[in-house]
Amino acid sequence: MPIDTDPSVAPDYVADLFDLSGRTAVVTGGGSGLGDAISRGLAQAGARVIVADVNLDGAEHVAAGIRDIGGSAEAVDADVTVRGTLEAVSATLDRVDILVNSAGTSARFPAEDFPEDVYDRIIGLNLKGSFLSCQVFGRRMLDQGAGSIINIASIGSSVAYPQTTAYLQSKGGVAQMTRSLALEWISRGVRVNAIAPSLFDTPLVRASDDVVSLTSEFIMARTPIGRRGLPTEVVGPAIFLASSASSMVTGHLLQVDGGYLIN
Ligand SMILES: NC(=O)c1ccc[n+]([C@@H]2O[C@H](COP(=O)([O-])OP(=O)(O)OC[C@H]3O[C@@H](n4cnc5c(N)ncnc54)[C@H](O)[C@@H]3O)[C@@H](O)[C@H]2O)c1
Repeated sequence: MPIDTDPSVAPDYVADLFDLSGRTAVVTGGGSGLGDAISRGLAQAGARVIVADVNLDGAEHVAAGIRDIGGSAEAVDADVTVRGTLEAVSATLDRVDILVNSAGTSARFPAEDFPEDVYDRIIGLNLKGSFLSCQVFGRRMLDQGAGSIINIASIGSSVAYPQTTAYLQSKGGVAQMTRSLALEWISRGVRVNAIAPSLFDTPLVRASDDVVSLTSEFIMARTPIGRRGLPTEVVGPAIFLASSASSMVTGHLLQVDGGYLIN
């Protein structure tokens, strides 16, 4: 995109700033929770959205919801832990302007008893899966000389809470991955940022609540806003980071946490 050095703010400047018309977005984990809301939001801003998920039913549901209101979306069956499936998705697309990495999971166990297979699954999905996705779709953006990547990090990228050591390790890694890619790729037009949510009301969190609530209680006791976030509350931050509104922003963790990190 050409850089406008005119200091005046044109009459349609702000409307254009958030407009994603003509852009193609890939949202991994787009079939549920935060990825679902972000997919719908990006589509409302004008983007064509590729809803990529191992849960194809969820992805189809989100894509159909977008098309029902006149948006452009397709569901694809893609596992972010398998490079080949990401490359297959990439090969079908003319361009990739926006990537949101929302595929992720968590599991709660005391650190001393954390099962190794669960540890491997969480690190493999949250950290390596996000990296594979950044690599595959980031290469497209580097070839285009433009693009915006949004990783879904967590307050757990910066602080600790109980019984989630693998998750915290993965999200700390996502924060550093965001910074390292941002540094390497900004000179070639690709911005890499992350959204760092506190506890949000999604299927992932509700499923964990059913098992044990220690982690949720610990987080909620320290969340100044006093409530969980709603998936719709990550839509604005995602559109900001996806769009030209954030053209000078890269390597940033945007805390969407009701004030959690104030203390
Ligand atoms: N909900 C929260 O409180 C919260 C807070 C901070 C960060 N996050 C992060 O936000 C992201 C989304 O979480 P959510 O709460 O919306 O969870 P969710 O379970 O509702 O959605 C996650 C989606 O990822 C998909 N997925 C799982 N494995 C996949 C794979 N290998 N390939 C592709 N898709 C896969 C799932 O099928 C699901 O549709 C995660 O990275 C999570 O760690 C969530």
